[in-house]
Amino acid sequence: MAQLQILRYPDPRLYKKATRVSEFDDTLRRLVHDMAETMYAAPGIGLAATQVDVHRQVIVIDASEDRKKMITLINPEILEAEGTQRCEEGCLSVPGVYDEIERAEWIKVAAQDLTGKGVTVEADGLLAVCIQHEMDHLLGKVFVDYLSRLKQSRIKARMQKLIRESA
Ligand code: NI
Repeated sequence: MAQLQILRYPDPRLYKKATRVSEFDDTLRRLVHDMAETMYAAPGIGLAATQVDVHRQVIVIDASEDRKKMITLINPEILEAEGTQRCEEGCLSVPGVYDEIERAEWIKVAAQDLTGKGVTVEADGLLAVCIQHEMDHLLGKVFVDYLSRLKQSRIKARMQKLIRESA
């Protein structure tokens, strides 16, 4: 297992659209293991393959309190969504930035597990927010894209300053 490097906003690779996974092989298992290690080490509650520069439809999430209930969603699709909620979100690709985003309150998602078997997940609250946030990454979307232009340019300036300081 290895920790992977997380792309930082506004890296253009965060805007690539992920393609569907068709082979459920060792390469996929290794990717999921490495993504899990990277997410727990960060620490974060979710990570999309896009964020580690792998443009495949793979996400790992653990929004549980004991951090022992990881779910892996491959080729996820939202089947149903209901209601709205506003929740403060953050992202491992945009460190130190948190803002409120509107999301569906409840979702029903179809996906595949690591073996390729079909799974259905129903989620509300934080888990629903997290799934929607990570699925956006697979579409090449970062949560700050929902914020005002002014906020986006402030965040970009802040991230570029961080990159300069760490260089
Ligand atoms: Ni994120």
